[in-house]
Amino acid sequence: MKLNIIAKESGKSNAQALFFVKKSVQFSAILSENGEKQVDSVLNGMVDGVFEDLDFLEIDGKATIFVNAAKERGISSLDHLRMAAYRLAQRASKKQIPVVSLMLADAAPEQFKSIAHGLAYAEYKFDAYKSKKKEAFQVTFEIVAGEHTAEFKKIADEVAVEQKAIVLAKNLINTPAADLTPADFVERAKTIAKYTEGLTIKVRDMKQLEKEGFMGHVTVGKGSSRPPFMVTLSYDGTKKRTSADHLAIVGKGLCFDTGGLCLKPPKSMPEMISDMSGAATTLAAIQAIATLKIPLKVSAVLCLAENAIGNTSVLPGDIFTAKNGKTVMVDNTDAEGRLVLSDGLAEAGLVGASHIVDLATLTGAMVRALGYAIAGFFSNDDDLARAIINCGEDCCEKFWSMPLEEEYADGLKDKFADLKNTGSDAGAISAALFLQEFLPADTAWAHLDIAGTAFVDKRWKYTDYGATGFGVQTLIELARRMSQGGLSEANGSYETV
Ligand code: BES
Ligand code: ZN
Ligand code: ZN
Repeated sequence: MKLNIIAKESGKSNAQALFFVKKSVQFSAILSENGEKQVDSVLNGMVDGVFEDLDFLEIDGKATIFVNAAKERGISSLDHLRMAAYRLAQRASKKQIPVVSLMLADAAPEQFKSIAHGLAYAEYKFDAYKSKKKEAFQVTFEIVAGEHTAEFKKIADEVAVEQKAIVLAKNLINTPAADLTPADFVERAKTIAKYTEGLTIKVRDMKQLEKEGFMGHVTVGKGSSRPPFMVTLSYDGTKKRTSADHLAIVGKGLCFDTGGLCLKPPKSMPEMISDMSGAATTLAAIQAIATLKIPLKVSAVLCLAENAIGNTSVLPGDIFTAKNGKTVMVDNTDAEGRLVLSDGLAEAGLVGASHIVDLATLTGAMVRALGYAIAGFFSNDDDLARAIINCGEDCCEKFWSMPLEEEYADGLKDKFADLKNTGSDAGAISAALFLQEFLPADTAWAHLDIAGTAFVDKRWKYTDYGATGFGVQTLIELARRMSQGGLSEANGSYETV
């Protein structure tokens, strides 16, 4: 796919794309007046039913691709544009149309951004393991942008960086565990640090982790022949401008989660190749934040381990001392994510974060509660919570605020140790309350449980089976907002929730 952003039509295009709204036969605001008139005259009198199969039509000797941008329940208008652009790109590629022009002179910047993302989503395929690879036909999209040309070019560059990060996250998540061990993940992070200006990396292996008391990683990872690592990436885009804000992103990176000795049933196991989605999303986000040179201090902590069965695996009932001194009895070896994250949160405190956002495919309870379309999150800070919802909306990613209900905290108490790693009620809330026990003092924190949204088992919006890349854009947008004067309500243009 190639995007050519030009002020006026070049005359080179073989086709034009027109977005329409199905039910009302009304054209979306992004059409140029010219396009609108053409379509109006052709479609005059057509009934709704016709649109179902209406793909192509010749208008003034040009193939015209119709893309349905009709309202679907629960989908925002920006997301409709993404979905429509995604369908358009797929259709144009299938029909082998070399140049398609989109009349976007009247489009708002955020509409163009959504369209550019939608076109790019159509490019993704994960065929590394297919013996026969299909080459997709490359389409050039000519964006006729009129007065917006310069602005849209800038947006297109941003979208390219964001999409590169999304592809990185999706590829990591889709890769089977045998080919992406914690050590392999470290190598990928090192390569990214090497080729991304301003990004530095620190890697702790199991020996170092044990020496420094990061026992969550050791406890979870020691049962595997593929040992655990903790990776800290740092980026400072502030150019020494004094700002107290420092965002640390912490990602659960279970390259595979068998459940450990509390073994998972076979049905739910293959999907556990995606249990490192938090770490993949975190790595992708900091890569994009550094590439975009967002003026903010950002750290990324990747908590990498494999939860496996071996004769050195943690045994149910074992007790370890976490980095902050609290003792934890491992009640269930399958509740391993919160154990590595206890170290990740400690590390975020050590690097001096003011704001911590952790991402984790943490609980099956969250999948049951909110499904694949919404991520539940927990926060101790209203400004951060509001920012996550608003940034998510702008990026077509849905977040729902969940309660850190203290009434359930007693369920985490253990008879011998300070805590046990499972609660007695409300699985997703108990997990969040457990994490809160390890939160460094005076930090604004949000825990994003992406167990439902990171990986889908059916086609969804503009993703096929597998990784969605969910969260990458919201994190980038959050960093942007923080860099533009902080998250307090007074500084944002967003509404209260
Ligand atoms: N990785 C899983 C959670 C998960 C489930 C992610 C489904 C994606 C899809 C996590 O480590 C886990 O196994 N959690 C347990 C915790 C329980 C033992 C307290 C769960 O949710 O069942
Ligand atoms: Zn587990
Ligand atoms: Zn897990």
